[in-house]
Amino acid sequence: MTTTIPGEPWSTGVARDDEGALVVAGVPVADLVAQHGTPAYVLDEADLRSRAAGYRRAFEAAFAEVGAGVDVYYAGKALLSVAVARWVHEEGLRVDTATGGELAVALRAGVPGAHIGVHGNNKSDDEIRAALDAGVGRIIVDSLVEVDRVAALAAAAGVVAPVMVRVTTGVHAGGHEYISTAHEDQKFGLSVAAADGADSPAMTALLAAVARPELHLLGIHSHIGSQILDPSGFEVAARTVLELRAALALRTGVLVDEVDLGGGYGIAYLPGEVALDPDRIAKDVAASVASSAAALGTPLPRFSIEPGRAIVGPAGLTLYTVGTVKPVRVDEGLVRTYVSVDGGMSDNIRPALYGARYHAEVVGRLSSAEPVLARVVGKHCESGDIVVHEVQLPGDVRAGDVLAVAATGAYGRSMASNYNHVPRPPVVAVRDAASRVLVRRETVEDLLALDQG
Ligand code: LLP
Repeated sequence: MTTTIPGEPWSTGVARDDEGALVVAGVPVADLVAQHGTPAYVLDEADLRSRAAGYRRAFEAAFAEVGAGVDVYYAGKALLSVAVARWVHEEGLRVDTATGGELAVALRAGVPGAHIGVHGNNKSDDEIRAALDAGVGRIIVDSLVEVDRVAALAAAAGVVAPVMVRVTTGVHAGGHEYISTAHEDQKFGLSVAAADGADSPAMTALLAAVARPELHLLGIHSHIGSQILDPSGFEVAARTVLELRAALALRTGVLVDEVDLGGGYGIAYLPGEVALDPDRIAKDVAASVASSAAALGTPLPRFSIEPGRAIVGPAGLTLYTVGTVKPVRVDEGLVRTYVSVDGGMSDNIRPALYGARYHAEVVGRLSSAEPVLARVVGKHCESGDIVVHEVQLPGDVRAGDVLAVAATGAYGRSMASNYNHVPRPPVVAVRDAASRVLVRRETVEDLLALDQG
C-alpha cells in the first residue's frame, strides 16, 4: 500500500504501527475511535504548539535582525477553543478575534485583554463594549462609520480606545497568484487608492482617528488574503502601508507606532505541496520592510502578523468511518469508487465552498490491494457533499474502514454547521500517548434543546 505517513501533509506526530494502523502522538487510531467515535477532529497538541512557537521565533529573530519588534497574533477564526487559546498564549502568541464569541473564548482561556485584538467589518455596539470592558490591546476599525462608533462608545465608557485602521492595498493574494489593482471590490478595510485628487478612504479614516481624543491610533492593518504560497504579495502590501504611514506623518505629525501585516501563510494540503517556510518568509519580509522604511526615511514601526491556518491546519486531521462503497461508471472506461463516510460538508465545508482539495488514507489497517480512483463523500443530501475530491484508495476499501483526512485543523470545526441536523464532531487533543476531549461531541438532544416547539 502506498502511504504518505509519516510526512506532509500530516502532522509531525503521526506514524503507522507495524500492522499499518495510524498512531497519533502515541495513541493508536483504534483507541481514538473506541474512546471518541467518528467523525472526530483530532489535534496533535505538540505539533500545534511547535508551529506556534516556530512562527513566533522566526519572526522575532528576523525582525530583530533589522531592529524591529514583532508580535504574533493567532487568528482564532481558524479554530478556537479555550485549550487552543491557552496553548498558543503559552507559546508566546497573542490572540486575534473576529467576533464577540471569539473574544469570549479568548477571555475564558485567561488570555489578558491587552494581548487580544478585535476585528470585524460590522462589530455590534455590544461587541465593541465587551472589547473595551476587557481592555483589549487593539480594536481594528474597518470603516469610517466605525471610527465614530468606537469613539462614542469609548467616551461613554470613559476610556481611550486603542485602534488600528484596516486598509486595502490593492494586493489581493491567495494560492500562487496576486494581482495589484487600484480598487478592490470587497467588503473589508479602506482603500489606499485616492479618486479625483481627494484623500483615499484609508487616509480619511486615519485622519478621523487621529482627530478623535477618545481614540489612540496605534497603527495600520493590512490583510491580503489566505492560503498564500507566493510571499511577494506580503512585501508589496507592507511597502504600501509604510508609504501610507509616512504620508499620514507628513499630514499630521503623527508617525504611528505599529503595522500589522495580517495572516494568510499557506500550508500543504496534498502530498508534494510545499508550505511557506516561516523562517524564509520572515527574513524576506523583514528585509523588505527595512529597505522600504529606509527609502522613506522613517524609523521602523513595531510589526505584528496574524497567522491562523499555518498554526492549526497541519496539526489537525479528521477521522471518519466508511459506511458504503459504490463503484460509479462516470465515463467509458472510468470508474470512480464513491466512498461514503459518516460526516461530510457539515464538518468540512471547504471542498464544497472553495473546491478545496484534501488527502485521505485508510488508516485502520494495511492493505495490499491495488489502488482505485476514489471520491470520499459525506452523508448529506447534496451531490456536492464531497470530503476528498480525488484520491487513490486501496481497492478493497470497505464498510467499517477508518479513514483519516489530513490537514483539517483550520476552518473545519470553526466553519462547521448542523446541516441535516447532524451534530458536530468533537475536538480531541492528543499528546504524549493520551487523548482528551477539548470540545465534546454534540448530540441530537443538544439540537433539540434549541428548538422551542
Ligand atoms: N487576519 C485577518 C484579518 C483575517 O481576515 C484572516 C483570515 C486571518 C488573519 C488569518 O488568515 P490565515 O492565516 O488563517 O490564512 N475560511 C477560509 C479562510 C478565510 C480567512 C479569513 N480571514 C478558508 O477556509 O480557507
